[in-house]
Amino acid sequence: MVFTGFDALALHGAVRKGSVTSLGCLLGVGKEAAVYEAMGMGVVALKFHRIGQQSFQTVRRSRSYMPQYKHFPWIFASSYSARQEYDALTALHAEVSVPVPVDINRNLIVMTFIHGGVPIAQATLENPDDVFAEVVENISKAYLLGYIHGDLSEFNIMVDGKNVWVIDWPQWVEPSHPAAEEILQRDITNLCTYFSRKYRIDAQVEEIHAQVVG
Ligand SMILES: Nc1ncnc2c1ncn2[C@@H]1O[C@H](COP(=O)(O)OP(=O)(O)OP(=O)(O)O)[C@@H](O)[C@H]1O
Ligand SMILES: [Mg+2]
Repeated sequence: MVFTGFDALALHGAVRKGSVTSLGCLLGVGKEAAVYEAMGMGVVALKFHRIGQQSFQTVRRSRSYMPQYKHFPWIFASSYSARQEYDALTALHAEVSVPVPVDINRNLIVMTFIHGGVPIAQATLENPDDVFAEVVENISKAYLLGYIHGDLSEFNIMVDGKNVWVIDWPQWVEPSHPAAEEILQRDITNLCTYFSRKYRIDAQVEEIHAQVVG
């Protein structure tokens, strides 16, 4: 079995359940996921998680949330990653601007599609101060609900000209995680560095940190 086979089984499961009715185009493929546009109850995004093509050691080093079993084959790692992201979206979507989770099957999550959304890395923001403030507000709400993103960057923040979303949550950690403080600090530093470099927004990491933890 290879990823294509596992993806097909997951898609078949979602189709049988009715959460997906037809598959659209590939939106992006990276080293740890492939995202497609699709139809279900309206337009949805399908994210196939693909963890474990690298050696397990590499995955463990970069993804501290992975269980530290001796054998954690890619099938389980990929399904686990999908489950982590689905759980975060489920817990967050009522209060935090994230895609709404629709279904999960094996390594696949089905979620609402962000129409006209682009990562801020590919956008020129007209109102960077507002977008920055909105991201801070969202990660603060997420923190208070027990979720630290863990991979916050300009590639995981999407805008459509009006709204802001924080996407890509499989690596989240809870505030009681032993490295939580360091991970939160890194998220905030990434955010401040990006907005300072591109938009000259001069925000102090300590100040934003205090704002996030409330
Ligand atoms: N709900 C969504 N609606 C619309 N587009 C989406 C949605 N979720 C993800 N995308 C698109 O897919 C891309 C990759 O999504 P995401 O960041 O969740 O995956 P990833 O894990 O970063 O993938 P990679 O392996 O490239 O790191 C996003 O940059 C975005 O363009
Ligand atoms: Mg991403």
